[in-house]
Amino acid sequence: MINFKPKNFYWGAATASYQVEGGIENTDWAKAAREGRVPPCGRACDHYHRYEEDFDIAQSLGHNAHRFSIEWARIEPEEGKFDEETTEHYRRVLRALRDRNLEPFVTLWHFTLPLWFAQSGGFERKDAPKIFARYCQYIVEQLGDLCLHFSTMNEPNVYATHGYLYGVWPPFQRVGLMAKGDGTEERAQPQTKIRNYWQYWKVASNLVKAHNTAYACIKAARPDTQVSVIKHVHVFDANERFINKLLARVAQYLQTDAFLLGIKGSFDAIGLNYYRSTRFGETRNFLQTDMGWNALPSGIYNALLHLQRYQKPIFIAEAGLADEDDDLRPQYLTVQIMAMQRAIQDGVDVRGHLYWSLLDNYEWALGFEKRFGIVEIDYDTLERKIRPSAYVYKRIIENNGIVE
Ligand code: BGC
Repeated sequence: MINFKPKNFYWGAATASYQVEGGIENTDWAKAAREGRVPPCGRACDHYHRYEEDFDIAQSLGHNAHRFSIEWARIEPEEGKFDEETTEHYRRVLRALRDRNLEPFVTLWHFTLPLWFAQSGGFERKDAPKIFARYCQYIVEQLGDLCLHFSTMNEPNVYATHGYLYGVWPPFQRVGLMAKGDGTEERAQPQTKIRNYWQYWKVASNLVKAHNTAYACIKAARPDTQVSVIKHVHVFDANERFINKLLARVAQYLQTDAFLLGIKGSFDAIGLNYYRSTRFGETRNFLQTDMGWNALPSGIYNALLHLQRYQKPIFIAEAGLADEDDDLRPQYLTVQIMAMQRAIQDGVDVRGHLYWSLLDNYEWALGFEKRFGIVEIDYDTLERKIRPSAYVYKRIIENNGIVE
């Protein structure tokens, strides 16, 4: 039984620059698209020019907060050179949010890298933490008067595993398979495997250092800023078998805790991204989202409880599903929000819920086919159409939660 309502709660939705803005050509992803390795992003939702219209929709849906990201490649198109015009653009974006009483949550880096940085080694570079922190500090100095909540990076583990272990995202390094000059791949020699693992660990630990360095620089520039990291939590648990329990523990440690322990003392809040739960030894079949993921919205309860050990405020920075027909989304959202409220009732300090996503968008290596938005995009006409689930969410927001 849930019989309370959260106080001063942030309700809204999230987006990320590369996935919605359109017209970004100087990143590692845009280069990969030109080479035919990932789908092109093109003008996406043209959110770069239509942000006001999109924020009007968010406001009309009752939102009081909004998360978006700043495109590093737009701000620093050449190493060490910051683009004032683009900075001014993001000032206008922040003002547009403030004018509509939407509290901004800014992510400083969401997966895409400026081409110059990627081509000179990206997060394999020894000086990557300093370079990243310089960019973060610049943004906070320029825009910190309009925004309190800054997240340094989105899902560092997902970035490192997809780019350096599975090889499905730039820079396409894969443990076990080696790219050849002619674009094909061959099985790696043992020494190459070791090198690839080493590269992955180097990147993973540089991301920890990059966050920590950025945190110090941001706090020095603006001590009153709330600095967080956006952490994906894939919930792992197990049936009664010892081996499954052990697997779940190890997976949870590697995917969630290794990073958060590395940045201990250098974050003021955690942004939780929740999409998936895996139970080792599970034999039941679950309903699937359009991503082929089990639709388990109540798993967010375990994700929140897991993060409680870090004793910092938590906001849900992303939680949603790909559901083109919008037939699962209303129930999914409702169950998820009830699970979140149960976690709050059980003592977890949750400050907000930002649905992923406000708009349909570019789902990375899967292109535009997957539809996560509560607002549908017609990619031919760029028309925005509000999905029925957006009104379910609106009602929940109007009631400031669900009372059973
Ligand atoms: C990412 C988003 C992505 C979403 C759905 C999150 O991991 O931050 O960029 O679109 O998951 O896959």
